[in-house]
Amino acid sequence: MEQIRRWHIYPTVDELEAYAARAVLRAAAQAIEERGRFRVVLAGGNTPQRIYGRLRAVRADWERWHVYFGDERCLPAGDALRNDRMARDVWLDHVPIPPAQIHAIPAELGAREAARRYAATLAPVERFDFVLLGLGEDGHTASLFPDHPGGNGADVVAVRDAPKPPPERVSLTAARLGRARQVMFVVSGTQKRRAVAAWRRGDPVPAATVTLPAGVDILLDTTAWPDPFV
Ligand code: 6PG
Repeated sequence: MEQIRRWHIYPTVDELEAYAARAVLRAAAQAIEERGRFRVVLAGGNTPQRIYGRLRAVRADWERWHVYFGDERCLPAGDALRNDRMARDVWLDHVPIPPAQIHAIPAELGAREAARRYAATLAPVERFDFVLLGLGEDGHTASLFPDHPGGNGADVVAVRDAPKPPPERVSLTAARLGRARQVMFVVSGTQKRRAVAAWRRGDPVPAATVTLPAGVDILLDTTAWPDPFV
């Protein structure tokens, strides 16, 4: 399926983060009203950190939130460089989401075993309500990297030799990430310009493989938007 994309450009990263936090909260309120719970997939890396920090400060129906992760780095549980550690430190450990509803990827078990177990965790989840993703300088998203196996229709893939350390990771596949009501990318920084330009050109970057019939939303600040004269 051809990816339908909506580009949203913000003058500052602050405005991008504020909008992204509001979008998550809006999706949560709607999901909880319609289905009694909110199933969200979190992005790793640095860009979402301050978005999560904003969510820490608000009142929400936290007991109805179910948190999943788009990918995880194969590091020991609790390691400071893990994506779940980041999200817990800035947000999840400070709001009353029931611990059993925070579904970390057991990446400490190694990529293959963690992928197997997380696929079982995701099996009962027909569709996510909201998927938050970042974009790497090479166009990767989650831990789906160029020239790496994308998982061939599986839900979760073991990743080795990732160009972004650590080399071993676990990632939801594009197919699984796209089984959602809403997918939002957050992109900031001049170092992302080339990847955004390639994406806009229609190059097959991994971020372009996460498709949704309703289309995906890409939030960028002006630093990440390619100079029209590049
Ligand atoms: C990770 C993330 C990765 C990240 C992008 C962007 O494990 O690092 O899953 O996909 O979202 O690399 O990272 P930044 O937001 O730090 O630029």
